[in-house]
Amino acid sequence: MTEGNTAIPESEMKDTSLHKFFVTSLKDIYFAESEIVDALEKMQNAATTEELKEAFEDHQFQTKKQIKRLEKIFQLLDEKPEKKECAAIKGIIKEGEEIIKATEDGSMTRDAALIIAAQKVEHYEIATYGGLAQLAITMGHDKVADLLEQTLQEEEDTDYELTEIAETYINFDAIHES
Ligand SMILES: [Fe+2]
Ligand SMILES: [Fe+2]
Repeated sequence: MTEGNTAIPESEMKDTSLHKFFVTSLKDIYFAESEIVDALEKMQNAATTEELKEAFEDHQFQTKKQIKRLEKIFQLLDEKPEKKECAAIKGIIKEGEEIIKATEDGSMTRDAALIIAAQKVEHYEIATYGGLAQLAITMGHDKVADLLEQTLQEEEDTDYELTEIAETYINFDAIHES
């Protein structure tokens, strides 16, 4: 595996298919993050426990910062920050909305299910940011790679925190619900 800058000059890099794919993927996740801000609002309102509501609120705040970070990345790459509709995230979010409809308000089962729905979002983000950070390193975009890795770390921490909340506050109570 080779890391660090390649022999391809910056001006030529922009014409490569890989660079174009990279920028398209950034537009995809830029769209996804803005959908996630709205989804986290709905999930926060739908959650039963304070712990989960707070986790969604914190991550919504973090997600807004991630959007700003993406805008910085577009700026560093001298690209316009544009959103490209992402069917995958829309599907994952729709599944979350269906879970809200299918579970009882105020139940622990609602929270157990919401956590899994939220973790599906986080895993989509982890796959995207992990892959894009590696591409950025390969193409020699070191600052961009740093920013992508910061977001990757936040998504991984959120995923871990959601597991902790499920195990500590929710799953055991949910099992006793009729
Ligand atoms: Fe995110
Ligand atoms: Fe996230």
